[in-house]
Amino acid sequence: MTKWPHILPLNPPNITPRPRKFLGNLFLVFILLAGLHLYFLDPTLPTLFRPVAKLPLHAEQSLARCASLKLSSGPPANFHNRKESDRFVPGTKATLLHNARIWTGENNGTEVLHGDVFIDKGIIQGVGNVNLSAFGLDVERMLARGELKVVDVNGAWVTPGIVDPHSHLGDASSPALDGASGDDNSLKGTIQPWLRSLDGLNTHDDSYRLSIAGGVTTALVLPGSANAIGGQAFTIKLRKTAERSPTSMLLEPPRDVINSHNEGGDHIPWRQMKHACGKKGRVYGDTRMDTFWAFRQAYDKARQIKEKQDAYCSAALAGQWAGLGEFPSDLQWEALVDVLRGRVRVQTHCYEAVDLDDLIRLSNEFKFPIAAVHHAHEAYLVPDVLKRAYDVFPFLLRYKREAYRGSEFAARILSENDLNVVVKSDHPVLNSRYLLYEAQQVHYYGLPANLALAAATTLPAQVLGLGHRIGYIKEDLVVWDSHPLALGATPTQVFIDGIPQLDAPHVISKPTTFQGPPKVPNFDHEAKEAVAFEGLPPLLPERASPDTILFTGVSSVILPGRGELAEVFSRQGDEPGVALVQNGDVICYGAAAACPLNELADGEQVRVVDLQGGAISPGLLTYGSPLGLQEIEAEVSTGDGWVFDPLTGRVPKLVGDNTVVRAVDALQFAGRDALLAYRAGVTKAIVAPVHRGFFGGLGTSFSTGAARKLDLGAVIQEVTALHISVGHFSSRPSISTQIAVLRGLLLNLPDDSINGVSKPFRDAARGLIPVVVEAYSADVIATLILLKKEVEEKIGATIQMTIAGATEAHLLVKEIAEANIGIIFRPSRPFPAVWEQRRVLPGPPLSNETEIALFLSHNITVGIGIEEAWSARNTRFDVGWAALEAGGRISKIQALALASTNLEKLLGGNAEGGDLFSFESKVVGVVLPRRRSVDLF
Ligand SMILES: *[C@@H]1O[C@H](CO)[C@@H](O)[C@H](O)[C@H]1NC(C)=O
Ligand SMILES: *[C@@H]1O[C@H](CO)[C@@H](O)[C@H](O)[C@H]1NC(C)=O
Ligand SMILES: *[C@@H]1O[C@H](CO)[C@@H](O)[C@H](O)[C@H]1NC(C)=O
Ligand SMILES: *[C@@H]1O[C@H](CO)[C@@H](O)[C@H](O)[C@H]1NC(C)=O
Repeated sequence: MTKWPHILPLNPPNITPRPRKFLGNLFLVFILLAGLHLYFLDPTLPTLFRPVAKLPLHAEQSLARCASLKLSSGPPANFHNRKESDRFVPGTKATLLHNARIWTGENNGTEVLHGDVFIDKGIIQGVGNVNLSAFGLDVERMLARGELKVVDVNGAWVTPGIVDPHSHLGDASSPALDGASGDDNSLKGTIQPWLRSLDGLNTHDDSYRLSIAGGVTTALVLPGSANAIGGQAFTIKLRKTAERSPTSMLLEPPRDVINSHNEGGDHIPWRQMKHACGKKGRVYGDTRMDTFWAFRQAYDKARQIKEKQDAYCSAALAGQWAGLGEFPSDLQWEALVDVLRGRVRVQTHCYEAVDLDDLIRLSNEFKFPIAAVHHAHEAYLVPDVLKRAYDVFPFLLRYKREAYRGSEFAARILSENDLNVVVKSDHPVLNSRYLLYEAQQVHYYGLPANLALAAATTLPAQVLGLGHRIGYIKEDLVVWDSHPLALGATPTQVFIDGIPQLDAPHVISKPTTFQGPPKVPNFDHEAKEAVAFEGLPPLLPERASPDTILFTGVSSVILPGRGELAEVFSRQGDEPGVALVQNGDVICYGAAAACPLNELADGEQVRVVDLQGGAISPGLLTYGSPLGLQEIEAEVSTGDGWVFDPLTGRVPKLVGDNTVVRAVDALQFAGRDALLAYRAGVTKAIVAPVHRGFFGGLGTSFSTGAARKLDLGAVIQEVTALHISVGHFSSRPSISTQIAVLRGLLLNLPDDSINGVSKPFRDAARGLIPVVVEAYSADVIATLILLKKEVEEKIGATIQMTIAGATEAHLLVKEIAEANIGIIFRPSRPFPAVWEQRRVLPGPPLSNETEIALFLSHNITVGIGIEEAWSARNTRFDVGWAALEAGGRISKIQALALASTNLEKLLGGNAEGGDLFSFESKVVGVVLPRRRSVDLF
């Protein structure tokens, strides 16, 4: 039973507790029961016979509960006097990091100290100029005994551990397995404040280790969004504990879970709860009207209980026990009652303006505070609504999977409206290992550096009510290999509770230009347009006129030629070059003298565009997402739909099992993701028909910047390659069945009952078109290697095979090279989402090797792919990241080829005469040889 000895009121009315003997206790109980018995049996008894003891048995406990209702949440008053963390693991060595550049999170994220960090007893005891003797420590002795480790970090950046305020780590586990994942959504009702994410926390999730390798030290584990009220959330530290239990991972667990360190103190730990508005309730067929009625009904119920409790406590405290009964409480609703008492941090999933407005009305009606609005894609369009919130606590979060009107400028716009922005992963939706990448991107699109770093550290810590110990240089630390806002920043060590988390980290050296904050471009105009057009600014490019453009201030020109890239000009010294483009062709480039303008025809108009040190580079190609076939992922009516799969379902007779569909027939143009990709230098896309079974169909390539399908150059190549998938995806027949069917189709076996003759497969077997097989498992890939050999021997032709996905391909690199198979890593940074992807080659700091560098070193043609259409625009970053992670093992040209010439070859595209764009800070235009013109942005 819980004891509440220290929280009784100082002068409890009518109670004079005194020591009684055991027998005395029994006696009292007897009298009291008798008294109550009589009282209830016969209320007409004269007052004289009413219970003598006004004090019911539970009085002490009930008064204690009343007193505890008054406690507010947060750290105990004496928290900062602590000498040792409640999470300290005895035996952990003290560490002194020497010569660090420390971003402390203080002063609005602007304080940077140069010096030392001293960690001991699970707490950062000193920062800056640390004099260990002043701590009363005998340094010599500690060093001699190995109790102190001193590390010179050579001026490396050090930040607080990254705090992920929205994850499903451990509840939606990775790799996903039926037995241990999908524990994040209950489908038993719309309103379930009584559920606890802690109950499903899997301690064997591979993500803990991977996320720590990205600098994440603390995460809030939320229930999913299937319910309006999904349940209670819990904060964990990601490190392994000796106890190996979910409970031992908790950070400041609420009192109702386990007795925590401030038991009996002057405050109680915060609780956390998940709410979700908008579409999500539709799991139950609810409309928004249904969802908000469910909310109001639940809050009304909680309000009634709260009012009963308050009335009870005023009576009890006044000593009016008669007829009071027991303290009114209800285990199912107590957490929601606590929300009304302001002791729960309500984390709300909410996207659109309508949902935000509904939510703010709800919080004002029932007067409860909201800790943060998550996703909040349209928040930047309605800042005034958010300012109306009850007890404004305006932290907003955003992540990259944009809703239709979402904007990459939302973060800076909100911040300009004095609303705070926090980044989060929603792991495994986004891999929380790369949460800092989200902060880097909001910085790239205009959020000041101090706020961008705060968005991944101090602010999420405050959202969780844990700013007194995390998010600042207080408990957990990350040492980085570059400035943390530089692309690809990677930890070289991570400390959680003073314990180094990376054994033998692999450290790559980064260019010196990466040791300072990146110089980001100016997007003021684009940000204004985003608001002016309510999230849908016009994106179609305008053709430049006149037809002749002179680019000046050019630092480098990289051109594709005969399927390879070559840097044909690179600035020498301070003298930038020029490039002259006429009718979509680069007709000359080099030092200014190389393109004499006076040779142009008389009267010809020339437009001059200053690239200010920028480069002319090949346009990039994107593959792997439904870009061009689907506009809004969750809205079926905005896309092509799914291909029939004869292996998993019935195919209408008219369609027939032999029909191989062509993606070109379903292309949609001028979609927002496509145009945003175009503006980010991704000028071309190759897509396969959207499928979830074995059969894909014929891929196609198109221009991401085209307005209409019938425009010149909109469709680049009608048919590129044949696409299929082999794996354990959604209810498919066995892998062996899929391979048998593939063998039958490639060999065109007469007894192939499922598909008969099919020309694309015959062409693939004869090497006339490439076959792109989506596969992840090393064992499936090994089988494909054997199958390729078998078919080639029987048919006498060479199959052009590409494996896309390829997470476990690194286990077979030699054999893949020998079999002359090309590889597309999709995604470009691996993650063990499912069992078939569990054996990842994670890259630094966990492995020296990266999959891309490894395959290139074996002369294998490598490309990179993406999974979701919105991320096509980030291809440039993916390419840069791949080069950085390889630590100098791959060149700039090789990196660009990953998303251009190599990818073209792997997918059957025609790499000749590719588009060009300017790369450095911001894409200013695209040169289009096919259309004999130039698009300027
Ligand atoms: C915090 O930093 C931001 C951006 O640098 C600035 O706009 C804001 O005024 C600062 N806030 C305070 C309280 O100094
Ligand atoms: C460090 O602290 C000790 C003990 O307080 C003191 O004697 C010593 O002068 C200090 N050293 C420096 C360099 O300040
Ligand atoms: C990591 O890879 C680099 C480049 O291949 C090599 O020089 C270095 O020795 C490797 N380090 C380890 C620890 O394997
Ligand atoms: C890759 O190609 C280069 C140049 O043709 C050659 O020197 C090298 O040995 C090849 N590497 C492998 C692993 O085949």
